[in-house]
Amino acid sequence: MGNNKYKNKLSISKEAQQYIQITSPLDDSVIGEVPALSQKEVDRAVQLAKVTFRIWKDVPLNERAEILYKAANILLEHMDTLTNLLMREVGKDRKSANSEISRTADFIRFTADTAKSIHGESIQGDTFSGFNKEKFAVVTREPVGVILAISPFNYPINLATSKIAPALIGGNTVIFKPATTGSLCGIELGKIFKDAGLPEGVLNIITGRGSEIGDYVVTHPDINFINFTGSTEVGVKISEKAHMVPLLMELGGKDAAIVLKDADLVFAAKNIIAGAFSYSGQRCTAVKRILVVNEVADLLISHLKEEISKLQVGNPLEKQVDIVPLINTKAADYVWNLIEDAKAKGAQLIYGGKREGNLVYPTLFDYVTTDMRVAWEEPFGPVLPILRVNNVDEAVNLANQSEYGLQSSVFTENLSDAFHVANRLEVGTVQVNNKTERGPDHFPFLGVKKSGIGTQGIRYSIEAMTRVKATVINLKH
Ligand code: NAP
Ligand code: G3P
Repeated sequence: MGNNKYKNKLSISKEAQQYIQITSPLDDSVIGEVPALSQKEVDRAVQLAKVTFRIWKDVPLNERAEILYKAANILLEHMDTLTNLLMREVGKDRKSANSEISRTADFIRFTADTAKSIHGESIQGDTFSGFNKEKFAVVTREPVGVILAISPFNYPINLATSKIAPALIGGNTVIFKPATTGSLCGIELGKIFKDAGLPEGVLNIITGRGSEIGDYVVTHPDINFINFTGSTEVGVKISEKAHMVPLLMELGGKDAAIVLKDADLVFAAKNIIAGAFSYSGQRCTAVKRILVVNEVADLLISHLKEEISKLQVGNPLEKQVDIVPLINTKAADYVWNLIEDAKAKGAQLIYGGKREGNLVYPTLFDYVTTDMRVAWEEPFGPVLPILRVNNVDEAVNLANQSEYGLQSSVFTENLSDAFHVANRLEVGTVQVNNKTERGPDHFPFLGVKKSGIGTQGIRYSIEAMTRVKATVINLKH
């Protein structure tokens, strides 16, 4: 992989007349193009995956695992070129891009290891009244079939792999639809699995705009499972269109950092700023609102101002930065409208509130009220609202009023208070004294309400994309 333009031909894109140009959010330069597959080509990919499934599902687990171990090694061998491609395609800073690739190699290895530790079980009949030992069940797990994996732009290597690796190790075949901005990385990921020995037809990449081929592939009768990560808007649309297939969805979030009066405020401020603004807040688990009790609000804000002022802003190709241009103008406009709305409704601008093209400067508002859009909407950008509350109960109620339920943080030095809050929060994960975040990747990762369906995390993903089979033995005496 050089730094020149990528003209990607996919094995199934025999006839792609249309290509989509991929431009960099850093300078709008064209860095490559990918085929816009037709419905006929999508169908060809699904049929190939369906036929190949009959062979792949019977490949011994240790052989599937060996391919994953090789893929992890090859991924690391391409660290530099993939880092550069990641930076240019989705505007990620070098440190985060590097970390995404090494984290993904670890993810793949851990997935192969975990699969070997997932065993079936046998159940004696006589543990249930009325039955004897002559009846027992041998319970095993088997793959579900063809998995449709759809991933978002912000982790084009890691979030793609978080679906592909567990699906493959479980014996499934995959139709992988990368985010259009991120599809160059997605295609390179596919090449890595191919170079690792993955047989043709096991992993099939379909490129093209989700708005054009999405409905067709989501409703395709030969898709057996849909694993989607992306916006709640698209997730809801998919869940309405898909019929009789299991869904695993990781969607939007509005993660709250709840700061109690006994919190270590310096520590909390560092964590909150890192959690809110890394990769310009383009993370589903970014801290997207602060709920702080009045007693300590002013002191916390003084520490937040100190931390936010340290953030580096600019082009990641030139230096290590935290704040990069947002993925596209639509995203930047959306964030800017939230900022304008907050200002117009009386929020106090503490820091930022500046924009240069798609580069929005880190922005912090105090005295945000519930009539402001930024109190509730997911910016997926570098704007952080502070809502002051009178007490813990008010913080919990405000947190739970969100339509989202991905993660929350609670900062306090009292473990009983932490659990008191955690037990009442309607989210998938509560971070005690830490920023909201997905890793480590073997932990359960899930959203409730409009933040998702089902649970990811390595073991959970493998189990979600396999199903139980019971073979009941009835002994004759
Ligand atoms: P997005 O616009 O929802 O797109 C996600 C994926 O869905 C892309 O591959 C997209 O393809 C595809 N898609 C679009 N319309 C579709 C349709 N009608 N049918 C099938 N697929 C369709 O999200 P994004 O902008 O890439 O990512 C940002 C959003 O994802 C944020 O809301 C963020 O919170 C969420 N997210 C959640 C998590 C999590 O783990 N919970 C992680 C990352 C991101 P195109 O690119 O071709 O449109
Ligand atoms: O938005 C991607 C989501 O999976 C966040 O991952 O590791 O940055 O918390 P992380």
